Amino acid sequence: MRRGAAVPTVAEIRVLARAARAARRRAYAPYSQFRVGAAVLTGSGKIITGCNVENASYGLSMCAERVAIQRAVAEGHRRIKAVAVAAPGSAMPCGACRQVMREFGITHVVIAGTRGTARLHTLADLLPEAFGPTDLR
Ligand code: THU
Repeated sequence: MRRGAAVPTVAEIRVLARAARAARRRAYAPYSQFRVGAAVLTGSGKIITGCNVENASYGLSMCAERVAIQRAVAEGHRRIKAVAVAAPGSAMPCGACRQVMREFGITHVVIAGTRGTARLHTLADLLPEAFGPTDLR
């Protein structure tokens, strides 16, 4: 975790969890039926959402977290403070998504699940000893 990185407030966690659950309704998951929503909180306080988007050529399917992060970057937000994930069974983000989170300074991951109380994790716990941008400098 970056030193001094702010822990998301309870209000931010609630808003992110709600946005991720709402985004889940737009999931395109006709093959797995496993619908996932995500929402990121940018450094400037904006919330940007994503959902998983599958493809008939299965390997081209994209996770909800990466859709949200890539949308944020494409809209000019390279600093992302936190991400929320809403998946059945409060499933955790896959390894590929954890690595993409690392790229853009995400320090906190909200596991929103589909209902109930959200849980807060640090990315450092989910991806310890991570490879990242500074390794190439
Ligand atoms: N999926 C996500 O959207 N995020 C994850 O972190 C794990 C998996 C999606 C990909 C695929 O559309 C479906 O869940 C089943 O793997």
